[in-house]
Amino acid sequence: MGDEKFPAAIRKTPSMKSQHNEAEVPFEFDELFFSRTDKRGKICSGNSVFRRISRFDWDELLAKPHTVIRHADMPRGVFWLMWDRIRRGLPTGAYVKNRAKDGDHYWVYTIVTSIEDGYLSVRLKPSGPLFEIVRSAYERLLSTEERERVSPQQSATLLMQHLQKHSFEDYDAFMASSLLAELDARSGAPATAWSSCLKTSAARPGGCTASLARSWEHMRTIDSFL
Ligand SMILES: Cc1cc2nc3c(=O)[nH]c(=O)nc-3n(C[C@H](O)[C@H](O)[C@H](O)COP(=O)(O)O)c2cc1C
Repeated sequence: MGDEKFPAAIRKTPSMKSQHNEAEVPFEFDELFFSRTDKRGKICSGNSVFRRISRFDWDELLAKPHTVIRHADMPRGVFWLMWDRIRRGLPTGAYVKNRAKDGDHYWVYTIVTSIEDGYLSVRLKPSGPLFEIVRSAYERLLSTEERERVSPQQSATLLMQHLQKHSFEDYDAFMASSLLAELDARSGAPATAWSSCLKTSAARPGGCTASLARSWEHMRTIDSFL
């Protein structure tokens, strides 16, 4: 249903959608940023890059859900899929557009893993060839969500169908390819370790996830965490 069918008072306000004048928050290609949550998804810590790029103060982030940085351009199906997987203990990589406090935006490739007392998200600046495919898939998915009022679960199914058209058998296969592409574009020790882990398990795309999760366990103790 188009907006024109709603009374002006309840039409979507421009602030809910991308603004043409919203800028991209700058950050370096080699910067990694982290945040950690409890089991309910409330933020308990993060590194200084996370805070800087969000443009929030710590007291505006801590104990809040990540919805504080949610961008209205993101389809709900993506988060349904993410939560469905991480609750089952499956590490999940996804492209996500986030909103900074002042309304600017930034895209990330995030890998969310379950840890003993909550979840850990590690974020990279996206660059790989799948990024463009995913951006256009999200646009179509968002418009379907709005037009046809599909549930988040149905939307996640539509996303999977779209990925299957691009020859990804399942989400693990998409994740292995997208993560490998993102890490391949980088240099440095963690990237090299993860990249090599993925390459050696290329024959079994989903098989890398457990060792991958182990490989960044150390991030939980990084000094820059709160
Ligand atoms: C560790 C972790 C990291 C997350 N990172 C983000 C993020 O960067 N951006 C975001 O919008 N949601 C993120 N989420 C998902 C949010 O919890 C939430 O599901 C999402 O913002 C959608 O909110 P909504 O369901 O209220 O629309 C993250 C969740 C977890 C557990």
